Amino acid sequence: MGYINKGEVFIMSKRQPKWLDNAVFYEIYPQSFNDTNADGIGDLQGIIEKLDYIKELGCNAIWINPCFDSPFNDAGYDVRDYKKVAPRYGTNEDLKRVFDEAHKRDMHVLLDLVPGHTSVEHPWFKESMKPEKNEYTDRFVWTDHVFMDTKGMNTLRAISDRDGCAVLNFFSSQPALNYGFYKQEEPWQQGMDDPGPEATRLAIQDVMRFWLKMGCDGFRVDMAAWCVKNDDENRTGNIYFWNKVGKFLDEEFPDAAMVSEWGNPDQSLQGGFHMDFQLMGQGTNYEDLFRCDEPYFSSRGKGNFKAYAERYNKSVAATEGKGLICIPSGNHDIDRLARRLKGNELKMAFAFLLSMPGAPFIYYGDEIGMNYVEGLISKEGGYQRTGSRTPMQWDDGLNDGFSTADPKDLYIKMDDAPDRPNVKAQMADPSSLWNEVRRLIKIRKENVALRSKAKVEFLETGYPLVLKRSCKEQAITVIINPTNEEKTVDVHGTIIYACGSAKLENGKCHVGAGTAVFIEN
Ligand code: NOJ
Ligand code: CA
Repeated sequence: MGYINKGEVFIMSKRQPKWLDNAVFYEIYPQSFNDTNADGIGDLQGIIEKLDYIKELGCNAIWINPCFDSPFNDAGYDVRDYKKVAPRYGTNEDLKRVFDEAHKRDMHVLLDLVPGHTSVEHPWFKESMKPEKNEYTDRFVWTDHVFMDTKGMNTLRAISDRDGCAVLNFFSSQPALNYGFYKQEEPWQQGMDDPGPEATRLAIQDVMRFWLKMGCDGFRVDMAAWCVKNDDENRTGNIYFWNKVGKFLDEEFPDAAMVSEWGNPDQSLQGGFHMDFQLMGQGTNYEDLFRCDEPYFSSRGKGNFKAYAERYNKSVAATEGKGLICIPSGNHDIDRLARRLKGNELKMAFAFLLSMPGAPFIYYGDEIGMNYVEGLISKEGGYQRTGSRTPMQWDDGLNDGFSTADPKDLYIKMDDAPDRPNVKAQMADPSSLWNEVRRLIKIRKENVALRSKAKVEFLETGYPLVLKRSCKEQAITVIINPTNEEKTVDVHGTIIYACGSAKLENGKCHVGAGTAVFIEN
């Protein structure tokens, strides 16, 4: 964790939770995972009942999307009470049981922290709407008057007798909490160290303390790069802010793990995050691999890996091992991996995801290739994201084993594609995606060169993809050939994993169409 003083790094802490070295995460969207009381919506008891399943797949950590009290205008990213589990998921005691049951299985749990905004229904916001000055007046970003230029910021205008506009962070129901402005250009824009922003930081730290004390292992942090407003292009203000939070964590919870929704590890890791996600459209070329017209892992073989690799190398150089660059299979905001990639292509994508550095994140259902369901009516602010949020398909029973509720009462209707996958069938089929993902996680965990911190070199970025993972104990060459043609690669060693047909003789590896092979050198 680096502490910075107005843009200058002056202390670097060594805090790095050890368990991240070999962590494989599973993201759970709680409303769609497993319903145990037949109300049509997933719940915390449902998560507890599936911990053994997640462990059997090989994941040893979970991230749960927000499960806090909320009016659900943005599926829970609009928090009304940070310290209370939403009744539809259970109680705070149930969440504590999630932590305890996970720990019994050597698993870790990250909650979703939403520091950038609350719901308009949060009591802090209701207080801040009052015209009389009070403790919460500066908790949110407000202009000084209703009739004024808001400097390009989206706002709620004239919603109470307070004379001002409340700045929004995302949807219209999500007012921005006040962490100050890096560049203050208007009198109503407070500084990062002013009393209002400082009180907001302490309040959010108090929320973190509440759950960490109860047993949670850290947080995925929503919109972490956008807390401080009017930042410069290097995000100096947000880096400054997160280092202050990091100091608090170092002092009180040195084992807490933090992963940012930032999308630029070069910056976020300077802010003290241990991990950052690659996101769509944030300049990491993540979309080139799985989510564009010609994704690299399509068997058509028309994709481009080069730009991704160049950008990745730049990030590695910029971050100097400060933390992990995490590549998600998907998440609740983007279309499913199986929208663009099918069948064996999904196995190739997972061979990549699970052989790269960083901690992999598997979005629930991606391990069986769940579909992006087209044409659904939006649910709770999902809009086009709703198609990636459909209920988990566990078996071939009622509601695919997700719930025993009447199908019309489900949170989101099930995928009704006749050939939709389910867990039970795939577990029973040795050639399924599920079994391949399981084998890949196993081989990753067993080989130190495949884990989070061993380095990667991209040896070939056309087709096939050839990358070398190495650390002082071991070196492994990973070859992935998503195309329809056999490829030959010069390499020596022993095959330790293959999916497809691979033959290694006389320093040449013949890698069949749609094949991934790992060779220990
Ligand atoms: C990012 C979250 O992943 C997304 O689901 C949410 O709508 C926005 N942040 C706003 O909190
Ligand atoms: Ca339920």
